Amino acid sequence: MKNNKKLHVGLLFGGNSSEHDVSKRSAHNIYDAMDKSKYDISLFLMTKNGYFLSHEDSARVFDGEPEDKVAAEEMAKADLKNPLAPIINLSKESDIDVYFPMIHGNIGEDGTIQGLLRLLQKPYVGTPILGSAMGFDKDITKRILTLAGISNTKYELLTPQTANNYSYEDLVDELGKILFLKPANQGSSVGIHKVETKAQFVSGLADAFRYDEKVLVEEAIEGPEELEISILGNQDPIASKVGAIKVPKGDAFYTYDNKFVDASKVKFDVPVDIPDTLNKQLTQMGLDSYKALGLKGMARIDFLVSGQGKPYVSEVNTIPGFTNISLYPQLFLASGISYEDLIDRLIKLAQEEFEFQSKILHDFKPLDPSDQKINE
Ligand SMILES: Nc1ncnc2c1ncn2[C@@H]1O[C@H](COP(=O)(O)OP(=O)(O)O)[C@@H](O)[C@H]1O
Ligand SMILES: [Mg+2]
Repeated sequence: MKNNKKLHVGLLFGGNSSEHDVSKRSAHNIYDAMDKSKYDISLFLMTKNGYFLSHEDSARVFDGEPEDKVAAEEMAKADLKNPLAPIINLSKESDIDVYFPMIHGNIGEDGTIQGLLRLLQKPYVGTPILGSAMGFDKDITKRILTLAGISNTKYELLTPQTANNYSYEDLVDELGKILFLKPANQGSSVGIHKVETKAQFVSGLADAFRYDEKVLVEEAIEGPEELEISILGNQDPIASKVGAIKVPKGDAFYTYDNKFVDASKVKFDVPVDIPDTLNKQLTQMGLDSYKALGLKGMARIDFLVSGQGKPYVSEVNTIPGFTNISLYPQLFLASGISYEDLIDRLIKLAQEEFEFQSKILHDFKPLDPSDQKINE
């Protein structure tokens, strides 16, 4: 029996990106940090095929049973002809008060899950649809940052239709000898290439196009410092202290391998000791980016800082990691907000945003004369 006074939270995790396992670790940490006297928690694991397991089976995986085995058992019984099959299990818990989507990468971070939760008419943690979609797309992110006057690296956008209009030589003339190639909608450094020759450019571009129809060709910041800040809030967000990621010397950049294969050589500085002026600049840039992109709840904003000390916003992450080594919660911990407090605040922000959005009209309603007092 559920205690009615507790808030019932639906924790969504897993997903179909390369961060499936990271998401599981994030979800474990969030679950452990949640005060069980305040919250009832139902778990929903999205398999790599994009199918939400029942909360009972999700809990079995959470408790250590192999995901593949549990998923196979459930799929064998599922009515896969039902068009709602991938999400049907979400309907089996009818009294969820707030959803906590902790699915990294596409679907989880690009507005798709947020659209689903909007249709379910329930509050959810984090950024709504448009901010999620914009924040996940590196091309759109950079366009918005540029419009808002926020420093970011120069780039050209290539598609399969336009790629032939750009010669390697012209791109080097415009952007410099070292180029970064990036699929616009990806994460975890998947499909990213640092290239210094025409041959590398050609093969890197072909690989990047495997992941998206939009590829950014970006100027490289040489030997950059990689700094990050955590932001929390809706209309009036707050920023954490700044942290740094130290990529092992000799590695070309912060790659998929040193994120997920062997992270042992990557060092984090939380918080990092940087000059006051840079600290202020990054805090302002982080808050400005958050607002310009319409982010809500939480986001981690990543920067590259050149050898000359010039900062660039590199990217935003609307569902940042919550693992033991993840910077989002660690930076707030270093700023005096505990993991548990952070989760409480995120859930409260979700409820506030939902309440705020519920007041926005979507159909014509004549103005009540008494409403005009608002403008007086
Ligand atoms: N313009 C750049 N100059 C130098 N290094 C870069 C640049 N862009 C990306 N990198 C390196 O590649 C990594 C991944 O790029 P990023 O844009 O953060 O993509 P992802 O979303 O996959 O994390 C960064 O952490 C950094 O090490
Ligand atoms: Mg990154």
